[in-house]
Amino acid sequence: MSIYITKNICRDFVQGSQTVHALKNVSLNIKKEELTIFKGRSGSGKTTLMNIMGGLDRPTSGTVILDKHDLTEMADFERDNLRRTDIGFVFQSIALISVMNAYENVEFGLRVAGKETKNWSQTVKKSLELVGLSKRMYHKPHQLSGGEQQRVAIARAIVHRPRIVFADEPTAELDTHLGLQVVLLFKRLVREEGITVIMTTHDPSMNEIADHVISLEDGEVVDET
Ligand SMILES: Nc1ncnc2c1ncn2[C@@H]1O[C@H](COP(=O)(O)OP(=O)(O)OP(=O)(O)O)[C@@H](O)[C@H]1O
Ligand SMILES: [Mg+2]
Repeated sequence: MSIYITKNICRDFVQGSQTVHALKNVSLNIKKEELTIFKGRSGSGKTTLMNIMGGLDRPTSGTVILDKHDLTEMADFERDNLRRTDIGFVFQSIALISVMNAYENVEFGLRVAGKETKNWSQTVKKSLELVGLSKRMYHKPHQLSGGEQQRVAIARAIVHRPRIVFADEPTAELDTHLGLQVVLLFKRLVREEGITVIMTTHDPSMNEIADHVISLEDGEVVDET
């Protein structure tokens, strides 16, 4: 079952007299509960595509269907609400709040989502448990390794139980071994929690773990496996 269908997405960035065609007619079908990787050289359009699919940006033309909803037709507030409740983001720079410990950083994700939950603290702890950090809950970011910090960021991205997680180069700052662990964690979230994960990476060794690999070149989809 498809969760996302994009049809002929184009995204132009106009800067003075120059126009960058960052995406050119990108049509994709992303299945529910799969791990999808966007790969391609720097500047190929991966982040631009994620931002549009995640509802952070709008395409210049084309449509993005998330389930039955056309994101491109939605009013800003509708799209913002959908994004807050249904989508989680993990960014390339880990961006944890340095004065907050792991628990508080994840709790912050729940606040941002504006989620009403009875078992607030249990929800936060469950999320940290899912990424294997129960024992590091009260450590601040500087007391955690790079891989552990990235896992806190993932716990924060999933704490409000989104259906979809976008992760932009989540392994870029990690060595191959830790990077692999992060991708395997995503794979587990897909299998066990039924989350749909879409991530970008430059690391070809991640490809075989993914269910679906989409290659971008110069704003176009050039290969899919
Ligand atoms: N806000 C913007 N204004 C102008 N040009 C932009 C903007 N954002 C992206 N671009 C251009 O669009 C193209 C695609 O950029 P994008 O960030 O999507 O690439 P990417 O595949 O994520 O690259 P990287 O692997 O380096 O993160 C690039 O040529 C970039 O310079
Ligand atoms: Mg990018």
